[in-house]
Amino acid sequence: MRLVETIEEMRDFSDSARARGRRVGLVPTMGALHEGHLSLMRAAREKCHVVAVSIFVNPTQFGPAEDFAKYPRNLESDCALLEKERVDLVFVPSVEEMYGTGAITWVSVEGMSDRLCGRSRPGHFRGVTTVVAKLFNIVEPESAFFGQKDAAQVAIIRRMVRDLNIPVSIEACPIVREPDGLALSSRNAYLKPEERKSALALYRSLQRTRELFEKGERDSAKLIAAGKREFANEPGARLDYFEVVDPDSLAALTSISDRALIAVAGFVGNTRLIDNVLVNP
Ligand code: PAJ
Repeated sequence: MRLVETIEEMRDFSDSARARGRRVGLVPTMGALHEGHLSLMRAAREKCHVVAVSIFVNPTQFGPAEDFAKYPRNLESDCALLEKERVDLVFVPSVEEMYGTGAITWVSVEGMSDRLCGRSRPGHFRGVTTVVAKLFNIVEPESAFFGQKDAAQVAIIRRMVRDLNIPVSIEACPIVREPDGLALSSRNAYLKPEERKSALALYRSLQRTRELFEKGERDSAKLIAAGKREFANEPGARLDYFEVVDPDSLAALTSISDRALIAVAGFVGNTRLIDNVLVNP
Protein backbone atom coordinates (compact mmCIF):
# COMPACT_ATOMS: atom_id res chain seq x y z
CA MET A 1 0.00 0.00 0.00
CA ARG A 2 1.33 3.42 -0.94
CA LEU A 3 1.09 6.27 1.58
CA VAL A 4 0.84 9.61 -0.18
CA GLU A 5 0.88 13.04 1.44
CA THR A 6 0.97 15.44 -1.50
CA ILE A 7 -1.64 16.37 -4.07
CA GLU A 8 0.94 16.09 -6.83
CA GLU A 9 1.85 12.50 -5.95
CA MET A 10 -1.84 11.60 -5.60
CA ARG A 11 -2.56 12.98 -9.08
CA ASP A 12 0.41 11.12 -10.61
CA PHE A 13 -0.84 7.85 -9.14
CA SER A 14 -4.40 8.36 -10.47
CA ASP A 15 -3.19 9.53 -13.88
CA SER A 16 -0.99 6.50 -14.37
CA ALA A 17 -3.73 4.12 -13.17
CA ARG A 18 -6.19 5.66 -15.64
CA ALA A 19 -3.58 5.56 -18.44
CA ARG A 20 -3.39 1.80 -17.87
CA GLY A 21 -7.18 1.56 -18.17
CA ARG A 22 -7.71 0.91 -14.47
CA ARG A 23 -10.92 2.05 -12.75
CA VAL A 24 -10.06 4.11 -9.68
CA GLY A 25 -12.40 3.99 -6.66
CA LEU A 26 -12.15 6.57 -3.87
CA VAL A 27 -13.30 6.14 -0.29
CA PRO A 28 -13.12 9.49 1.56
CA THR A 29 -12.79 9.18 5.36
CA MET A 30 -11.63 11.07 8.42
CA GLY A 31 -9.88 7.97 9.79
CA ALA A 32 -10.43 6.22 13.15
CA LEU A 33 -11.55 3.41 10.91
CA HIS A 34 -14.12 0.79 11.91
CA GLU A 35 -16.12 -1.94 10.16
CA GLY A 36 -18.49 0.67 8.68
CA HIS A 37 -15.58 2.28 6.84
CA LEU A 38 -14.13 -1.11 5.88
CA SER A 39 -17.43 -2.12 4.25
CA LEU A 40 -16.89 0.81 1.85
CA MET A 41 -13.36 -0.41 1.02
CA ARG A 42 -14.81 -3.85 0.22
CA ALA A 43 -17.51 -2.37 -2.02
CA ALA A 44 -14.81 -0.33 -3.79
CA ARG A 45 -12.62 -3.44 -4.17
CA GLU A 46 -15.52 -5.23 -5.92
CA LYS A 47 -16.21 -2.47 -8.41
CA CYS A 48 -12.80 -0.93 -9.09
CA HIS A 49 -9.34 -2.10 -10.09
CA VAL A 50 -7.61 0.39 -7.84
CA VAL A 51 -8.83 1.51 -4.40
CA ALA A 52 -7.67 4.81 -2.93
CA VAL A 53 -8.70 5.87 0.58
CA SER A 54 -8.31 9.39 1.90
CA ILE A 55 -7.84 10.07 5.59
CA PHE A 56 -8.26 13.75 6.33
CA VAL A 57 -9.87 15.25 9.42
CA ASN A 58 -11.38 18.18 7.58
CA PRO A 59 -11.34 21.33 9.75
CA THR A 60 -13.91 23.20 7.62
CA GLN A 61 -16.73 20.80 8.46
CA PHE A 62 -16.36 21.25 12.24
CA GLY A 63 -18.02 24.15 14.07
CA PRO A 64 -15.90 26.31 16.43
CA ALA A 65 -17.28 24.52 19.52
CA GLU A 66 -17.06 21.03 17.99
CA ASP A 67 -14.57 18.19 18.40
CA PHE A 68 -12.00 18.91 15.63
CA ALA A 69 -9.04 19.02 18.05
CA LYS A 70 -9.98 15.86 19.90
CA TYR A 71 -11.33 13.86 16.94
CA PRO A 72 -9.66 10.41 17.19
CA ARG A 73 -6.53 10.13 15.01
CA ASN A 74 -4.65 6.82 14.74
CA LEU A 75 -2.93 6.60 11.40
CA GLU A 76 -0.83 3.57 12.26
CA SER A 77 -3.71 1.26 13.18
CA ASP A 78 -5.81 2.68 10.31
CA CYS A 79 -3.05 1.78 7.83
CA ALA A 80 -2.83 -1.75 9.26
CA LEU A 81 -6.58 -2.19 8.64
CA LEU A 82 -6.30 -0.78 5.13
CA GLU A 83 -3.41 -3.12 4.27
CA LYS A 84 -5.62 -6.04 5.25
CA GLU A 85 -8.38 -4.79 2.93
CA ARG A 86 -5.85 -4.72 0.07
CA VAL A 87 -6.25 -0.97 -0.38
CA ASP A 88 -3.75 0.29 -2.98
CA LEU A 89 -3.16 3.79 -1.72
CA VAL A 90 -3.91 5.97 1.27
CA PHE A 91 -3.93 9.73 0.77
CA VAL A 92 -3.14 11.60 3.99
CA PRO A 93 -2.70 15.29 3.20
CA SER A 94 -1.99 17.88 5.88
CA VAL A 95 -4.41 20.79 6.37
CA GLU A 96 -1.83 23.08 4.67
CA GLU A 97 -1.57 20.74 1.69
CA MET A 98 -5.37 20.62 1.27
CA TYR A 99 -6.21 24.27 1.85
CA GLY A 100 -2.96 26.15 1.28
CA THR A 101 -3.03 29.64 2.70
CA GLY A 102 -6.00 31.89 2.19
CA ALA A 103 -8.38 29.56 0.33
CA ILE A 104 -11.62 31.54 -0.11
CA THR A 105 -13.66 29.34 -2.44
CA TRP A 106 -16.53 27.20 -1.15
CA VAL A 107 -18.83 24.64 -2.68
CA SER A 108 -22.29 24.88 -1.16
CA VAL A 109 -25.43 23.00 -2.10
CA GLU A 110 -27.91 25.79 -1.41
CA GLY A 111 -31.15 24.90 0.30
CA MET A 112 -30.10 21.33 1.13
CA SER A 113 -27.09 22.17 3.31
CA ASP A 114 -29.26 23.67 6.05
CA ARG A 115 -31.48 20.60 6.46
CA LEU A 116 -31.17 17.83 9.10
CA CYS A 117 -27.62 18.04 10.57
CA GLY A 118 -27.07 21.24 8.58
CA ARG A 119 -29.60 23.01 10.79
CA SER A 120 -27.86 22.13 14.05
CA ARG A 121 -24.35 22.32 12.55
CA PRO A 122 -24.27 25.52 10.47
CA GLY A 123 -21.54 25.36 7.81
CA HIS A 124 -21.00 21.62 8.29
CA PHE A 125 -22.20 20.49 4.87
CA ARG A 126 -20.45 23.40 3.13
CA GLY A 127 -17.21 22.06 4.61
CA VAL A 128 -18.08 18.52 3.50
CA THR A 129 -18.98 19.44 -0.08
CA THR A 130 -15.93 21.69 -0.42
CA VAL A 131 -13.49 19.01 0.70
CA VAL A 132 -15.22 16.24 -1.28
CA ALA A 133 -15.20 18.40 -4.44
CA LYS A 134 -11.47 18.99 -3.89
CA LEU A 135 -10.86 15.26 -3.42
CA PHE A 136 -12.80 14.51 -6.62
CA ASN A 137 -10.65 17.06 -8.50
CA ILE A 138 -7.42 15.66 -7.07
CA VAL A 139 -8.13 11.93 -7.42
CA GLU A 140 -10.58 12.00 -10.37
CA PRO A 141 -12.08 8.64 -9.37
CA GLU A 142 -14.60 6.79 -11.57
CA SER A 143 -16.57 5.88 -8.45
CA ALA A 144 -16.67 7.18 -4.89
CA PHE A 145 -18.10 5.23 -1.96
CA PHE A 146 -20.09 6.71 0.93
CA GLY A 147 -22.09 5.24 3.82
CA GLN A 148 -25.85 5.52 4.08
CA LYS A 149 -25.19 6.15 7.78
CA ASP A 150 -24.69 9.80 6.73
CA ALA A 151 -27.78 9.82 4.51
CA ALA A 152 -27.96 13.61 4.19
CA GLN A 153 -24.29 13.73 3.22
CA VAL A 154 -24.95 11.21 0.42
CA ALA A 155 -27.95 13.19 -0.87
CA ILE A 156 -26.04 16.48 -0.82
CA ILE A 157 -22.97 15.01 -2.53
CA ARG A 158 -25.14 13.41 -5.23
CA ARG A 159 -26.75 16.79 -5.84
CA MET A 160 -23.36 18.55 -6.01
CA VAL A 161 -22.08 15.99 -8.54
CA ARG A 162 -25.19 16.45 -10.65
CA ASP A 163 -25.21 20.25 -10.50
CA LEU A 164 -21.46 20.61 -11.19
CA ASN A 165 -21.28 17.81 -13.82
CA ILE A 166 -18.53 16.02 -11.93
CA PRO A 167 -17.81 12.76 -13.78
CA VAL A 168 -17.97 10.39 -10.81
CA SER A 169 -20.45 7.72 -9.87
CA ILE A 170 -21.61 7.95 -6.24
CA GLU A 171 -22.16 4.59 -4.54
CA ALA A 172 -24.06 4.48 -1.24
CA CYS A 173 -23.42 1.47 1.04
CA PRO A 174 -25.67 0.13 3.83
CA ILE A 175 -25.23 1.08 7.50
CA VAL A 176 -23.04 -1.31 9.51
CA ARG A 177 -24.27 -1.81 13.09
CA GLU A 178 -23.15 -3.36 16.36
CA PRO A 179 -25.02 -6.60 17.24
CA ASP A 180 -27.43 -4.58 19.46
CA GLY A 181 -28.24 -2.14 16.65
CA LEU A 182 -26.01 0.86 17.43
CA ALA A 183 -24.66 2.28 14.16
CA LEU A 184 -20.86 2.15 14.04
CA SER A 185 -19.27 5.59 14.29
CA SER A 186 -15.79 6.91 15.06
CA ARG A 187 -17.47 9.01 17.77
CA ASN A 188 -18.70 5.88 19.61
CA ALA A 189 -15.16 5.81 21.04
CA TYR A 190 -16.12 8.86 23.16
CA LEU A 191 -18.94 6.96 24.95
CA LYS A 192 -18.50 5.89 28.57
CA PRO A 193 -20.08 2.48 29.40
CA GLU A 194 -23.32 4.06 30.72
CA GLU A 195 -23.51 6.35 27.68
CA ARG A 196 -23.01 3.39 25.37
CA LYS A 197 -26.30 1.99 26.75
CA SER A 198 -28.12 5.31 26.38
CA ALA A 199 -26.90 5.60 22.78
CA LEU A 200 -29.31 2.80 21.83
CA ALA A 201 -32.13 5.36 22.12
CA LEU A 202 -31.45 6.37 18.50
CA TYR A 203 -31.80 2.86 17.09
CA ARG A 204 -34.80 2.06 19.31
CA SER A 205 -36.66 5.20 18.22
CA LEU A 206 -36.10 4.29 14.56
CA GLN A 207 -37.20 0.68 15.15
CA ARG A 208 -40.38 1.85 16.86
CA THR A 209 -41.16 4.17 13.96
CA ARG A 210 -40.44 1.50 11.37
CA GLU A 211 -42.78 -0.92 13.16
CA LEU A 212 -45.59 1.63 13.01
CA PHE A 213 -44.81 2.28 9.33
CA GLU A 214 -44.93 -1.46 8.63
CA LYS A 215 -48.36 -1.63 10.33
CA GLY A 216 -49.55 0.92 7.78
CA GLU A 217 -49.04 4.32 9.44
CA ARG A 218 -48.11 6.88 6.76
CA ASP A 219 -48.68 10.15 8.63
CA SER A 220 -45.30 11.73 9.38
CA ALA A 221 -46.50 13.62 12.47
CA LYS A 222 -47.68 10.34 14.07
CA LEU A 223 -44.51 8.49 13.11
CA ILE A 224 -42.35 11.31 14.47
CA ALA A 225 -44.35 11.51 17.71
CA ALA A 226 -43.86 7.76 18.27
CA GLY A 227 -40.12 8.01 17.57
CA LYS A 228 -39.74 10.99 19.91
CA ARG A 229 -41.72 9.22 22.68
CA GLU A 230 -39.44 6.20 22.42
CA PHE A 231 -36.38 8.47 22.50
CA ALA A 232 -37.70 10.32 25.57
CA ASN A 233 -37.78 6.99 27.50
CA GLU A 234 -33.99 7.19 27.67
CA PRO A 235 -33.02 9.89 30.19
CA GLY A 236 -29.33 9.65 29.25
CA ALA A 237 -29.95 10.91 25.71
CA ARG A 238 -31.09 14.33 24.45
CA LEU A 239 -32.85 14.61 21.11
CA ASP A 240 -31.56 16.99 18.44
CA TYR A 241 -34.02 16.15 15.66
CA PHE A 242 -36.32 13.37 14.52
CA GLU A 243 -37.56 13.89 10.97
CA VAL A 244 -39.25 12.24 8.00
CA VAL A 245 -37.85 13.61 4.73
CA ASP A 246 -37.50 12.94 1.03
CA PRO A 247 -34.22 10.98 0.68
CA ASP A 248 -33.13 12.96 -2.40
CA SER A 249 -34.13 16.55 -1.59
CA LEU A 250 -34.18 16.19 2.22
CA ALA A 251 -37.44 18.21 2.24
CA ALA A 252 -39.82 17.35 5.09
CA LEU A 253 -42.67 15.01 4.14
CA THR A 254 -46.08 15.37 5.77
CA SER A 255 -46.99 11.82 4.76
CA ILE A 256 -45.19 8.90 3.15
CA SER A 257 -46.31 7.82 -0.31
CA ASP A 258 -42.90 6.93 -1.77
CA ARG A 259 -39.36 6.30 -0.47
CA ALA A 260 -38.77 8.19 2.75
CA LEU A 261 -35.82 8.76 5.05
CA ILE A 262 -36.48 8.69 8.79
CA ALA A 263 -33.52 10.40 10.43
CA VAL A 264 -32.57 11.00 14.04
CA ALA A 265 -29.78 12.89 15.80
CA GLY A 266 -29.15 13.17 19.51
CA PHE A 267 -26.61 13.87 22.21
CA VAL A 268 -25.41 11.31 24.71
CA GLY A 269 -23.32 13.28 27.18
CA ASN A 270 -21.29 15.55 24.91
CA THR A 271 -21.28 13.10 22.01
CA ARG A 272 -23.51 13.82 19.04
CA LEU A 273 -24.75 10.70 17.24
CA ILE A 274 -26.92 10.19 14.16
CA ASP A 275 -28.81 7.29 12.61
CA ASN A 276 -31.51 6.72 10.02
CA VAL A 277 -33.65 4.21 8.22
CA LEU A 278 -35.04 4.22 4.67
CA VAL A 279 -38.62 3.06 4.24
CA ASN A 280 -40.59 2.37 1.08
CA PRO A 281 -44.31 1.66 0.89
P1 PAJ B 1 -16.26 9.68 8.24
O1 PAJ B 1 -17.19 10.03 9.33
O2 PAJ B 1 -14.90 9.18 8.56
O3 PAJ B 1 -16.97 8.60 7.35
C1 PAJ B 1 -16.39 8.13 6.16
C2 PAJ B 1 -17.42 7.31 5.41
O4 PAJ B 1 -17.77 6.16 6.20
C3 PAJ B 1 -18.72 8.10 5.19
O5 PAJ B 1 -19.18 7.89 3.87
C4 PAJ B 1 -19.66 7.49 6.21
O6 PAJ B 1 -21.02 7.56 5.85
C5 PAJ B 1 -19.17 6.05 6.25
N1 PAJ B 1 -19.61 5.38 7.48
C6 PAJ B 1 -19.42 5.80 8.76
N2 PAJ B 1 -20.03 4.96 9.63
C7 PAJ B 1 -20.62 4.00 8.89
C8 PAJ B 1 -21.42 2.85 9.19
N3 PAJ B 1 -21.73 2.53 10.44
N4 PAJ B 1 -21.86 2.09 8.16
C9 PAJ B 1 -21.57 2.42 6.88
N5 PAJ B 1 -20.82 3.48 6.52
C10 PAJ B 1 -20.36 4.27 7.51
O7 PAJ B 1 -18.18 11.19 6.50
C11 PAJ B 1 -17.05 11.63 6.64
O8 PAJ B 1 -16.03 10.95 7.27
C12 PAJ B 1 -16.63 12.99 6.10
O9 PAJ B 1 -17.73 13.86 6.13
C13 PAJ B 1 -16.03 12.93 4.67
C14 PAJ B 1 -17.04 12.40 3.65
C15 PAJ B 1 -14.76 12.07 4.67
C16 PAJ B 1 -15.63 14.37 4.22
O10 PAJ B 1 -14.72 14.92 5.10
